[in-house]
Amino acid sequence: MYDLAALDAALAGTIFAGKLHFSPVTDSTNSEAVDAARAAAPHGSVYFADEQLAGRGRGNNNWLSTAGEGLYVSVVLRPRIFLARLPLLPLAAGLAAADAVRAVSGLIVDLRWPNDILLGARKGGGILVEAHTEDHAVSYAVIGIGINVHQRRFPPDLATPATSLDSEAERRISRQPLLIALLKSLEREALLLEDPAAWAAISMRVEQASTWVRGRVVEVHGPQACTGLTAGLDENGFLLVQTSAGMVTVQTGGIREATSS
Ligand code: BTN
Repeated sequence: MYDLAALDAALAGTIFAGKLHFSPVTDSTNSEAVDAARAAAPHGSVYFADEQLAGRGRGNNNWLSTAGEGLYVSVVLRPRIFLARLPLLPLAAGLAAADAVRAVSGLIVDLRWPNDILLGARKGGGILVEAHTEDHAVSYAVIGIGINVHQRRFPPDLATPATSLDSEAERRISRQPLLIALLKSLEREALLLEDPAAWAAISMRVEQASTWVRGRVVEVHGPQACTGLTAGLDENGFLLVQTSAGMVTVQTGGIREATSS
């Protein structure tokens, strides 16, 4: 269980100070955060839970959120960025999550575009960004992050097999230091996102942190379905895929390892 007083103390001086909202059980921390953002919750409001009854993943998937086993957290950000920069936000959140997982567990983390957190070939976490825009600017973005921490078993029929930090590290990893590291990294990334000079570096850093975004034969799922060789990210954070019909700039969807024909 979390020690809320210690969390508050550890986050003093950050944008999250005094804005932590913990629920033992909730439907979805993302739904809570979206509702709060609509009701004017400030930049840096954090919603986290011990258990989610209706955890949501990308593409209408469920996010299994068993009590006490994972990190389930959503943050309201009100970044001063134009709509065109929004695709960089999940990438920046991925960098923050990778950084935090590495720092507390020592594990090697891979990022699969746009925002899967992989440990080896298995999924250790994911990110769900829900944003609202007004007049070509982002009025709020909810960054929902789920990290599998203590789980030892997962359903066998997942699209990507899952794993947890405990299983990979072969020791118990505490959620509390993970949450603190994650929020601190997220604050750093959110600041960089508002600095035009740092935008190109976000795509470059994702390329460095990911074995997926360059030189990998993938299947693209979603409205731009195709198969090809990944060729890096453009300055907006979109994925370039070299197909037999030419270069495709993938703006939305997901990727998997191509199954050989
Ligand atoms: C994915 O990989 O499909 C994204 C999963 C995101 C799950 C997190 S858990 C905390 C937050 N609340 C939710 O309902 N979803 C996100």
